Amino acid sequence: METTAGVKATVHLPPGGREHEPGYELFRAKDPVTIVIFGASGDLSKRKLIPALYQLHNGGYLPDRYAVVGFARTPMSDEAYRAAMVEVLQEQAIDDALSITHPLISALYYQPGHNDDPDSFRKLKEKLVAIDRERDLPGNRLFYLSVAPEFFTTIIQNLCAAGLICGRHEKTWSRVIIEKPFGRDLESARKLNADITALLDEHQIYRIDHYLGKETVQNILSFRFGNSIFEPLFNQKYVDNVQITVAETLGMEGRRGAYYDTAGALRDMVQNHMFQLLCLIAMEPPAALDAQSIRDEKVKVLRALEPLTRKEVAASTVRGQYGVGELDGQVVKGYRQEEGVAPKSMTETYVALRLKIDNWRWAGVPFFLRTGKRLRKRVSEIAVAFKQPPLLLFRQLVNHEEDVIPGPKSNVLVLRIQPDEGISLSFACKRPGMKIELEEVYMDFFYRTFQQRSPEAYERLLLDALRGDASLFTRSDEVEYAWRFISSILDGWAALPPPSFPNYYPFTDGPEEAARLLEGTQARWRPLSSM
Ligand code: BG6
Repeated sequence: METTAGVKATVHLPPGGREHEPGYELFRAKDPVTIVIFGASGDLSKRKLIPALYQLHNGGYLPDRYAVVGFARTPMSDEAYRAAMVEVLQEQAIDDALSITHPLISALYYQPGHNDDPDSFRKLKEKLVAIDRERDLPGNRLFYLSVAPEFFTTIIQNLCAAGLICGRHEKTWSRVIIEKPFGRDLESARKLNADITALLDEHQIYRIDHYLGKETVQNILSFRFGNSIFEPLFNQKYVDNVQITVAETLGMEGRRGAYYDTAGALRDMVQNHMFQLLCLIAMEPPAALDAQSIRDEKVKVLRALEPLTRKEVAASTVRGQYGVGELDGQVVKGYRQEEGVAPKSMTETYVALRLKIDNWRWAGVPFFLRTGKRLRKRVSEIAVAFKQPPLLLFRQLVNHEEDVIPGPKSNVLVLRIQPDEGISLSFACKRPGMKIELEEVYMDFFYRTFQQRSPEAYERLLLDALRGDASLFTRSDEVEYAWRFISSILDGWAALPPPSFPNYYPFTDGPEEAARLLEGTQARWRPLSSM
């Protein structure tokens, strides 16, 4: 059965002729602002940030007056930057007919400079003051640090030294968005937090995790707390296990190997994105949908994850690395053959974990997490498997040769994060006929039935930062508790004998050893092919 969303999008055309969503005025950023992107020539800026700003502009969400300044090493004029960004937007087929006169493009500026050179920041300040004058902007600034992590503190120091960060009592505001990775273990995350909170107030810091900007991730809270039929079942009395999967088909795609080889799947995906999913599916209802209440509840989940001992690390984690394979008759490189990767690299490209959340709601319910590169299918989902019903009732109906008629299976509620966004619930049903035979059937909701464009994660997050709403950004204690747990795994791995890598073929479900984590439970990894 396919449910149809009962919402029909209506649009109205403002004087400029662009389509705005109904109610957009309530959510638009109102304070005139200058957005400064550090790392403006990087991939993230081109693939995500500029397209997100373009969509926000067209949706009417940006303030009436604003400017965007790109900052990077390559010398370039404003005009050259504008032309490059037009190309970027055209290349991504975001707007084939885009011209240099589009208001977003004419609001773009460029300042060449070095992240660690105070003089570059003096020049940046001069540029920003000139733009303020030209565009009648009051001096609100959103700085986006899309740079390598070693520059986070340096840039903030340089911004402060150049007088570009406003104090709490000034009329204008300054906010800083910091990209991942936020540290590489507990110690470095603590140091980074200490260094930047010595320079900025916590309310000025926006640690980004783009998973929180995904529509389906935000829907986890709406679904859990906006419906009364599921929430009473979300606890150890009714839930058998929870499986969180974030599978990717991509490998290193050229440039990424050098970074990834220093990180691995646990740091790259679990500490941030997967733990956000874990927190949202496991947390208690927040007192309000505001930054403090939501983040308080997420932190409680992370605190209930006891750091693992070395023995527990051995028992509750499985690492993998993809080897050489084949796809459609073409050889696919193994991880160790990828550009920028050490030929004997021991970095994991796959990780599976069995976790326990030691609180009253979840004690005894295993949470299984797995993520990996070069897997069979790109799919992210959370599957909540409920306990099996007692089988006795159905046993009585069996003929003498068989012991139990097939099923019933446990009910599984699946929140599909991507790519086929939606929610499905499986349940047992009597197959038509004289016999009593149970069949597993599904109720499926597909996001696409809304027939409405979902904003991209970066659109949502940039808009929230412009509006001063930090609910979808991570707080310092949240980051540290996540690292506390992850560091216990990293320490355990360092002390254990190294795994024998590579141990899975590309485009499979990952290492077979992952099945070991489910032993002693009724759970089975959901085959990626059926997801
Ligand atoms: C990034 C990781 O944060 O998230 C990448 O560094 C990963 O390795 C990406 O591919 C996945 O994001 P998405 O939105 O494609 O699921």
